[in-house]
Amino acid sequence: MKKETVSEKKSIGILKALNKLVPVIIKAAPVFVGVTTFVSIMHGISWGIETMMQQKFFDAATLLVSGESTSSRVLVALLMLGGANVLCQVLNGIGNFLPDVMGQKITGALSVSIHKKMAKLSPVIFEDTDKLDDINKAEQGKNNAVWFVFIFVTIFTFYLPYFLFMGWYLFSLKPILATSIILAFIPTAAVQIIRTKVFAKLEDKSAPIRREYDYFESCMVSREYFKETRLLGGFSYFKKLYLDALDTLQKLRFQATMKTNLIELTMRMLGVAGYFGIMLMLFDALMKQEITVGAFAAVFNSIGLLYSIMEEVVCRHIGSMAQSMGSVQNYLNFLDLEERTGTIDEAPTWGDITLENVSFSYPKSEKQAVKNATFTLKKGETLAIVGENGSGKSTLIRLISGLYLPSEGRVLMNGVDTKDLAPKALFNDTSAVFQKYQRYQMTLEDNITVSDTEKDYDEAILDSISEKAGTDKNSTSFADGYKTMLSREFDGVDLSGGEWQRVAIARGFFRDHDLIILDEPTAAIDPYEETRIYNRFAEISKDKSAIIVTHRLGSVKLADRIIVMKDGEVSQIGTHDELIVLEGEYKRLYEAQEQWYKEDVVAS
Ligand SMILES: Nc1ncnc2c1ncn2[C@@H]1O[C@H](COP(=O)(O)OP(=O)(O)OP(=O)(O)O)[C@@H](O)[C@H]1O
Ligand SMILES: [Mg+2]
Repeated sequence: MKKETVSEKKSIGILKALNKLVPVIIKAAPVFVGVTTFVSIMHGISWGIETMMQQKFFDAATLLVSGESTSSRVLVALLMLGGANVLCQVLNGIGNFLPDVMGQKITGALSVSIHKKMAKLSPVIFEDTDKLDDINKAEQGKNNAVWFVFIFVTIFTFYLPYFLFMGWYLFSLKPILATSIILAFIPTAAVQIIRTKVFAKLEDKSAPIRREYDYFESCMVSREYFKETRLLGGFSYFKKLYLDALDTLQKLRFQATMKTNLIELTMRMLGVAGYFGIMLMLFDALMKQEITVGAFAAVFNSIGLLYSIMEEVVCRHIGSMAQSMGSVQNYLNFLDLEERTGTIDEAPTWGDITLENVSFSYPKSEKQAVKNATFTLKKGETLAIVGENGSGKSTLIRLISGLYLPSEGRVLMNGVDTKDLAPKALFNDTSAVFQKYQRYQMTLEDNITVSDTEKDYDEAILDSISEKAGTDKNSTSFADGYKTMLSREFDGVDLSGGEWQRVAIARGFFRDHDLIILDEPTAAIDPYEETRIYNRFAEISKDKSAIIVTHRLGSVKLADRIIVMKDGEVSQIGTHDELIVLEGEYKRLYEAQEQWYKEDVVAS
């Protein structure tokens, strides 16, 4: 199996991430953010004030002992110290409650923004594995993003005012003492900067591997895969691939954790050295009588707190910011994913669809899946597209329907470029049965009507559509008629491949349309039934535009014209009668199939 290469993803730093996130979050809950910020700043300063009050109290008490002060002064100092403490506690209480409420409000607002963005995404993005990763993790990243910004805001509105206040206070006592803040900061901050980088890199490296092992796991245990993997003996093969991927992932994680732990240990040692340095400075200042005993006691008391707070900020808070950086980045990348930029909200009136020199390459692929296609699907025309596997048929219909936009050239819907159409103006008049259609784990009725959930219908409409698609609600497969649950997971039944395909066709027919696209809708259906379905189809699409992609050339005769694809290029266009007489791809394909049937006849 081909290993996916680790791709370099767009990575951004914490500051850039914040730069993008903060406005989004402020916009989501401006009043809450304002009030929380204010409370937080006051809370930070109140801690510093408490230290000052401690000094005043210690000084007053020392002076009282030496007879230079009165007990009422000590009492006043004590009351002020008590007041500062109460203020701290009150602000702490409010500060604990507000972020919870704010977090819920912001998370809700961001969820809405994710859904809005989803609706505008360019569908071709889903072909790009890295971008899929961003989409899948956007939801988790969003939750982390709220937490991420909250920590950041707390650092700036609570811890920073506290440190600034303490810096000013220490400086006013003796300038050199203010360096203690820096000494406490440098080693702890250095650890976290490194930690951020290590974990961001780890996330980049592990995302594709995680995707791989999730996939291998599903190959072993999921219902769609397990029959084939068991029968063909692939189980142990997938198990090995799964364990290998898991092993690689664990090694990467272990290396990253070891690296950060070692660095952290070294920096902690430096921190301890810094702490003793400050204590010496403080003692020296006291001995030289540059500071009072009260100041010595208050600072001695608060330096421990300062260190532990610094550790809390940097290790716990910035540390968890660093660890969530990866998924926050997924969320930010998701917000940056390209959207359909078309501005025309009104769908063009139904008419011709013209392709002008249309080429298309899939993301990360150099090969052009469709090359320089030029033709017109006339209003009301039925077009068949034929060609070998991989010749670009499915890609071509995604371009014609406006699902994908061409890399080069233009697709015009009644003269309007598909790239100028807003998402809501697209697909209004289009229905499709895709080659890889969905098997919804819902009732038969829901499986049919999901293609047009706004449409009013009754049983007669369902009957008529089902009949055309070859689905019979009275067949033994559907014990409860349209209410039969089509899902083993939800205690219902499963259908055969051909039966599912007919349900998918009924779904395509149910949706009101001017254009209907059938991409090999009958591959699993027997030839007799296929002919019947196509005849019915010709009937219902008489005045509508239709495109049929098929490998069974017997069914293309009902089309007005046939497009023959070869290696991404439109190699021939014409009616069956026109093409069959030409020496070309169509004749070659047709004769190959005809031969096959003849030999079949001989053999029987
Ligand atoms: N998601 C994708 N990413 C990259 N390349 C793709 C992707 N899907 C298709 N291709 C490539 O584009 C080319 C055209 O594929 P397409 O699915 O349009 O062929 P097709 O004619 O519909 O084939 P089939 O008859 O097997 O359905 C193929 O060579 C295929 O490898
Ligand atoms: Mg195809």
